[in-house]
Amino acid sequence: MALSGMGLVLYVVFHMLGNLQLFEGSHALNGYAASLRDMPILLWTARMGLLSLAVLHIALAIQLTVRNRRARPVAYAIRRYRQASVASRTMAASGSVLMLFIIFHLLHLTVGVIDPSSADRLDTEGHRDVYGKIVHAFQNPFIVAFYLAGQLGLGMHLNHAVTSSLQTMGLERAAFNRLLKAAGPTVALLVVLGNVAIILAIFLGIVRG
Ligand code: HEM
Repeated sequence: MALSGMGLVLYVVFHMLGNLQLFEGSHALNGYAASLRDMPILLWTARMGLLSLAVLHIALAIQLTVRNRRARPVAYAIRRYRQASVASRTMAASGSVLMLFIIFHLLHLTVGVIDPSSADRLDTEGHRDVYGKIVHAFQNPFIVAFYLAGQLGLGMHLNHAVTSSLQTMGLERAAFNRLLKAAGPTVALLVVLGNVAIILAIFLGIVRG
């Protein structure tokens, strides 16, 4: 779970950094999207790798949950948490929110079945107008609300997942324990801030089409 999760975290970080090119304008973002599409073998290898990691991650999460339940068939009469944070206790819930968000997001921006009106637009240079698609999307308050809810799920999940997977990989050492504990919240905050900046900059009219 730790390794597949780390692969997915890397994707989310690079995806956010790539999307931040929205702030440089349509030329930068559409050029970046086109350069990814211009390498179909690399693109499809990355897509298949990503899909395999996601399927593996979810399957292992289900297996782990079932194993935990079997290990303790009788529920605790009283639950008092000493160490476990809210984020760590709600990993299944935040993971489910995230999965729903990703399905919606793919149908919306990749496949284009949710709001197909902007799906096949081209910009003045003949590139797919990914910039126009995003700007059009985040002018809609329902889409904005859904994406912000997705960011909440993402933030909660990353907050616990990053630190926890580094611990699983055996990186817990007294010398950099505080660094390890800070890694999850830091990555979560940066990724969520980057994504929310894109959503709100458009919704509030700071970035326009
Ligand atoms: C404000 C936040 C986000 C924006 C603006 C955004 C934007 C986009 C766009 C425009 C595409 C389609 C690219 C294209 O057609 O060339 C895309 C694809 C995708 N996004 Fe996002 N995204 C955001 C957040 C996320 C998050 C949080 C995740 C994962 C947790 C995610 C996962 C994906 C995946 C898996 C794809 C498919 C990649 C592919 O088709 O190769 N995105 N995103």
